[in-house]
Amino acid sequence: MTIDFRPAEPDRLPDFVGIADGIDLSRPVTQDEVAAIAAGMDRFAVLIFHDQAIDDEQQLAFSRHFGPLEHAISHGIARQHQRGLAPEIADISNLGRDNTVLARDDRRRLFSLGNMLWHSDSSFKPTPAKYSLLHARVIPQPGPLGNGNTEFADMRAAYDALDDETTEQCRDLVCMHSQIYSRGLLGFAEWTEDERARNQPVPQRLVRRHPGSGRRSLFLSAHAGEIIGWPVPEARAFLRDLNEHATQRQFVYAQQWRGGDLVMWDNRAMMHRARRYDPAAVRELHRTTVADSAPTLQQAA
Ligand code: OGA
Ligand code: MN
Repeated sequence: MTIDFRPAEPDRLPDFVGIADGIDLSRPVTQDEVAAIAAGMDRFAVLIFHDQAIDDEQQLAFSRHFGPLEHAISHGIARQHQRGLAPEIADISNLGRDNTVLARDDRRRLFSLGNMLWHSDSSFKPTPAKYSLLHARVIPQPGPLGNGNTEFADMRAAYDALDDETTEQCRDLVCMHSQIYSRGLLGFAEWTEDERARNQPVPQRLVRRHPGSGRRSLFLSAHAGEIIGWPVPEARAFLRDLNEHATQRQFVYAQQWRGGDLVMWDNRAMMHRARRYDPAAVRELHRTTVADSAPTLQQAA
């Protein structure tokens, strides 16, 4: 069976989110399948694989076809060891050591609420993320306290829709990205010396060109808190305007999770954010993250 991609919303977002059919990720994939998926990622920026019954080992094996994997614990606050997951698995859950829901004021929970701000994964690392692969293990029912969706915003379309003056203004800008900054936006401010040392701000280009599609995009993220050479308030006001522009509903797809969904996204081309859900319900997803090849300043503009 060959893999086939179709737009999830053909009328509204024909080139943003694709649904992949005809592949079972619990089995080893062939080089042809890997090439087809990479090409699908270049056309879309998000691919959805439904009904994938895979465990961590299978997710790791599939993910490694696309490049070296990040270690989940290098910059975050310690979570991994709590539930015995592999170092390359980011624990995107609200569970603690004994697999029970974290207390409302648990530090790890409060840290993870940073995912509710529009961001691009690991933009706070010198070499940010290329792909993220997020697999749904336990999904809460949508309810009055929220739907637990993940939303994706197309930063290529947002770039294309800028007016000429703003395009010109953005062209050569470099932003400083830091997790200390983004978490601070939500009032999360308690860091150990060691965590601070591991989270020094890093420079990233604001406009990137995608090597696969040739399309330019805005490399925005909640972690971006400064623009090199600009006064800080002016930079933050400008970035806020850009974020407002880039996350208008016409650029956004909302993923309503089903257990077994694996969603793969290209952090070079879009932003994403988590949405609220009942804090008493279990939500468990596992993420693997493929590192990009070089810092954005070393990539062709
Ligand atoms: C992530 C992330 C959003 C969510 O895994 O990188 O931002 O909805 N997740 O859990
Ligand atoms: Mn994320």
